[in-house]
Amino acid sequence: MERRTFLNVGLAGLGTLAVAGPAAAHFIPMPSDEKWAVIFGTWYGTARDAAVWVSEGMGGIAPVFDARQAPADLGSYDHLVIGTAIQGGKGPQALEDFIKAHAPEIRRKTRGLFAVCGNLGKQPGPQQVKDYVGGYLGGITGAGAVPGAIFGGRITRALMDPDQYKMVTELYARMGGPKDDFDNLSRVACMKFGAEIRAARA
Ligand SMILES: Cc1cc2nc3c(=O)[nH]c(=O)nc-3n(C[C@H](O)[C@H](O)[C@H](O)COP(=O)(O)O)c2cc1C
Repeated sequence: MERRTFLNVGLAGLGTLAVAGPAAAHFIPMPSDEKWAVIFGTWYGTARDAAVWVSEGMGGIAPVFDARQAPADLGSYDHLVIGTAIQGGKGPQALEDFIKAHAPEIRRKTRGLFAVCGNLGKQPGPQQVKDYVGGYLGGITGAGAVPGAIFGGRITRALMDPDQYKMVTELYARMGGPKDDFDNLSRVACMKFGAEIRAARA
């Protein structure tokens, strides 16, 4: 009986744990009266890290959401920053769907746009700002003249589907890009952009 009671309590305890669930790592913003959020689209996490560092540059006040998990109701936010990874000149479908579903609010509230791209292993420049930030992201958000930035991306073999990794590295080899993993994302550059966006609203 003693043992059974213990077992029941143990199982009940486990049940509670299962309901609450262990929480995944989550960006918890610094307290602020300003209501900002950063929303990003990613395949392999570069744009996620950029989004966190952009928020850090803003003083860490903006919660950071993957478009796949972003709140359906953006009413709690006055200011949005939208960022994306680029494949074939575009962001992930989930980000496009999210933007489409909140089009008028995103058009009205977006204060900054950024993209991360591989650019064959080189740091991107004005052409990629034009194509991916102003052209692509500016087009789907309708955000108008807001600050924009482009950041160098990564190729991370450990995260990639082997066929896709092979395809990308073969393409890069043909076009003179790096043969292996690379990481051109700069925390300093992301933070600088975050500070710039917030200063633009001050
Ligand atoms: C299938 C595929 C297509 C890509 N297409 C482009 C592209 O059109 N232009 C570019 O500059 N980089 C391109 N890249 C590089 C990505 O932009 C880069 O890996 C970036 O860091 C991805 O961000 P993520 O890790 O957030 O998904 C491509 C990468 C892959 C795997």
